[in-house]
Amino acid sequence: MKYGILHPLVAAAALAQTPPESHPSTRSNLGASFENVTVTPGVWISPDDVGSQPIVYARKKLEIEHHNTYMIFMLDLNIPDSDVTTLAYYSSLVPGLAVNTTTRLHWWGGNYTIGKHGLFVNSSEAVAEYTAPRPRDSTNHTYTLYLFEQPRDYVFPKAALEGTYYSQTAEARFNFTLAPIVKEVGEPVAATYFLSNNP
Ligand SMILES: *[C@@H]1O[C@H](CO)[C@@H](O)[C@H](O)[C@H]1NC(C)=O
Ligand SMILES: *[C@@H]1O[C@H](CO)[C@@H](O)[C@H](O)[C@H]1NC(C)=O
Ligand SMILES: *[C@@H]1O[C@H](CO)[C@@H](O)[C@H](O)[C@H]1NC(C)=O
Ligand SMILES: *[C@@H]1O[C@H](CO)[C@@H](O)[C@H](O)[C@H]1NC(C)=O
Ligand SMILES: *[C@@H]1O[C@H](CO)[C@@H](O)[C@H](O)[C@H]1NC(C)=O
Ligand SMILES: *[C@@H]1O[C@H](CO)[C@@H](O)[C@H](O)[C@H]1NC(C)=O
Repeated sequence: MKYGILHPLVAAAALAQTPPESHPSTRSNLGASFENVTVTPGVWISPDDVGSQPIVYARKKLEIEHHNTYMIFMLDLNIPDSDVTTLAYYSSLVPGLAVNTTTRLHWWGGNYTIGKHGLFVNSSEAVAEYTAPRPRDSTNHTYTLYLFEQPRDYVFPKAALEGTYYSQTAEARFNFTLAPIVKEVGEPVAATYFLSNNP
């Protein structure tokens, strides 16, 4: 089966498709397009263009099993610690990409399967509904989209079971760690990322 009909030129590349020095990481590219802009790793996109969730699709050479089920995440890896807490607690935060930054969950959808043209389609409500990036400062924020396999017997981390991420508030979404997800389901099978700031 061949995927990537939408953007066949950018096949899975040999380089990391996640931001340099970030974990988890993968070399397989995940296709993602907002209404007017296609994501390529590291591209800068205006906050005006990311108001609604992107369509996400499998690349041609991505070795994805079409009968599997997947989860999609989007995280901001550059939230200033000072937006979240006070100095005394910086060291307790899940580290972001730069010094004194942490993370924020923007989107977590499960029960995705591969449909027509390699598009990922979901069959249940998101665990964390897509929240549009609205970077407050002029430094670039790094928004990373990850695709994980979702095992049939997938068990949510406690916070997700408690419905924490249904809320789109900063309180619920900041300081988010993928560690328990990676522990449960393994490394991401594909990813991509873009930058944005408030110029
Ligand atoms: C995409 O571009 C069209 C045409 O310029 C515009 O009308 C529309 O609002 C844009 N959509 C978004 C989400 O910015
Ligand atoms: C951030 O998350 C970590 C790990 O989940 C937790 O131990 C820590 O208390 C959190 N810090 C704050 C300030 O919420
Ligand atoms: C990180 O935050 C601490 C406390 O505000 C500050 O002293 C330090 O200079 C900051 N580091 C960087 C690289 O901004
Ligand atoms: C998948 O769908 C089932 C049934 O709607 C739901 O209970 C479960 O939480 C969903 N899992 C994920 C990861 O979204
Ligand atoms: C699919 O996910 C989107 C956003 O994550 C959500 O708005 C939509 O309700 C989901 N579709 C179904 C059929 O649940
Ligand atoms: C943000 O990233 C873009 C693309 O790499 C770059 O051109 C721009 O200078 C960066 N802005 C800042 C404030 O670093």
